[in-house]
Amino acid sequence: MCGIVGFAGTEQAAPILLDGLKHLEYRGYDSAGVAVYSPSSGLQVKKAKGRLEVLKGLTDDGRNMEGTIGIGHTRWATHGEPNDVNSHPHLSQDNKIAVVHNGIIENYVEIKEFLLSKGVCFQSETDTEVVAQLLAFYYRQDGDLMMSVYRVLHRIEGAYALGILCADTPCSFIAARKDAPLLLGYGKGCNFIASDVTAIIKHTREVSFMEDGEVALVTSDSITVFDALGRKIDKEHSFVEWDISAAEKGGYAHFMFKEIMEQPDAVRKTVAPRIKEDRIVFDELKLDEAYIRDMKKIFIVACGSSYHVGMVGKYNLERLIRIPVDVMLASEFRYADPLVDEGTLVIVISQSGETLDSMAALRKARDLGARILSIVNVVGSSIARESDHVLYTWAGPEIAVATTKAYSTQLVLLDMLGIWLADICGRISIEEYSSLLEELKRLPEKMEMILKNTEDIQYFASRYFNHDSVFYIGRNLDYALGLESSLKLKEISYVHSEAYASGELKHGTISLIENGTLVIALSTFLPLFDKELSNIIEVKSRGADVIALTTCDMAEELKKTVHNVLCIPRTSLIFQPSLGIIPMQLFAYYVALQRGCDIDKPRNLAKSVTVE
Ligand code: AGP
Ligand code: GLU
Repeated sequence: MCGIVGFAGTEQAAPILLDGLKHLEYRGYDSAGVAVYSPSSGLQVKKAKGRLEVLKGLTDDGRNMEGTIGIGHTRWATHGEPNDVNSHPHLSQDNKIAVVHNGIIENYVEIKEFLLSKGVCFQSETDTEVVAQLLAFYYRQDGDLMMSVYRVLHRIEGAYALGILCADTPCSFIAARKDAPLLLGYGKGCNFIASDVTAIIKHTREVSFMEDGEVALVTSDSITVFDALGRKIDKEHSFVEWDISAAEKGGYAHFMFKEIMEQPDAVRKTVAPRIKEDRIVFDELKLDEAYIRDMKKIFIVACGSSYHVGMVGKYNLERLIRIPVDVMLASEFRYADPLVDEGTLVIVISQSGETLDSMAALRKARDLGARILSIVNVVGSSIARESDHVLYTWAGPEIAVATTKAYSTQLVLLDMLGIWLADICGRISIEEYSSLLEELKRLPEKMEMILKNTEDIQYFASRYFNHDSVFYIGRNLDYALGLESSLKLKEISYVHSEAYASGELKHGTISLIENGTLVIALSTFLPLFDKELSNIIEVKSRGADVIALTTCDMAEELKKTVHNVLCIPRTSLIFQPSLGIIPMQLFAYYVALQRGCDIDKPRNLAKSVTVE
């Protein structure tokens, strides 16, 4: 969601900023802009609604903007429609200060009224513009930009990552953060800020992550960081290991397809280092065994697909550990009155590690006394840093907005955690433990088998892509699988779809089934195979077209009732959704392809949701 990049160096800034923004495109945006400064042309701002290509056209790929220092932004509108004027950067009335912002200034109305009463004129409808105008207002009084920045930060409420460029101090720009991601990048003869590392990895791998309340002064040869009270601090530098090619399409038509194909490898990388001598070993987890044995409850909180991982987790962890497992959407949890205390282990799942609702839920759970264990893909992200314990998924950078490989690695890691906890609690037999481990090791190879054989999925997609509505039905783990399958389809193909627990159909939804309605029946949870079969017959007899998914050993049986059957290899019960999701991701992908959708950047969606 929204991208910020800033550069101070000796080369022309605008092309570097535009390239950085290009790499942040995947986060989702509706408009883009840059501000650069040069002694001869002063502070120049170019911004436009729409794709980055529009801005590139306006600036001749950045070449017609002089200057070696600047800030850039891709906006995901929260306040004010997406249009040229509301795009960032925003300029102060005196044209001296340019501001880019990610987040929401919650008290902007009050500040705007104050400034209007002082005669300040506003150009845009955004909350962000108050930052530029208030800063200029204070700066006229103080004559010291940094002091004025601190005054602004004390006055504004809400969430922000900010980049500030001032024509009076053109050798540096200022960055500040609270509840929105921002990192500092240390280059050779140049320095950067960015919302995430993909924007700058071409130039440097040496970064540090800004904390809430910190302010940074960035020049071409130094980055100085101050805390909330203005005291200079030393930041720890991290080295980013990600391979640059992981953030490139590498011959694939879409990042999403590439990432679907990368799943066996991502799962292998997540699982293999944590299996030693046929035991699951979490070297990074310092959870003491006494705490685990006394644990009364597990609470999983997350959003979107990460929440769907939690839904699978509820079934699997309860089955394995035999203690209650609750799962709640982070956006609900943060405003609920959840039963969480010292005896609760709260598991926060997040690919980006920056989702604002998940972060707020984490803080709430921590305040209630719970221990926080997070499952996160982005190293050093906010959720990882604020958790007591972190398990990283090693999916590598995920660029497509619709998650695939991060989902798969989260799922497998949560299952591993369940087996590990069950073992410590003495709730799993030696035989079950070793058979699960054997299957765990074989998962990547079984995923590869599915990915080698996609013709049937493509065929069904081409036959059914023009349906307006699709129902996914399933029981138990298949219900949880249906939730994610349905989200994938609606996210990228814009086809309306719903996931229902099959047993619920007759309580209402079955009234929607008529001749030709497409129902995808998930029948991989074999203990309830017969029950699911009855539900399939129920919808078929009301005219539904059914595509069914089951394990290869049950395919013939299912074909007696359903013509369209997709099958996946059999694995242990708890891992079956890890295989089941792959054909469902591919089905969504091929449907979206047939419908000509913008698969990697679906409308209205952002990769990392850093606003409420
Ligand atoms: C998944 O395809 C979605 N783009 C979205 O639901 C996502 O899973 C959700 O926003 C949570 O993101 P996170 O894992 O980065 O916290
Ligand atoms: N709230 C700001 C706006 O609507 C910033 C949105 C963003 O994070 O891109 O302009």
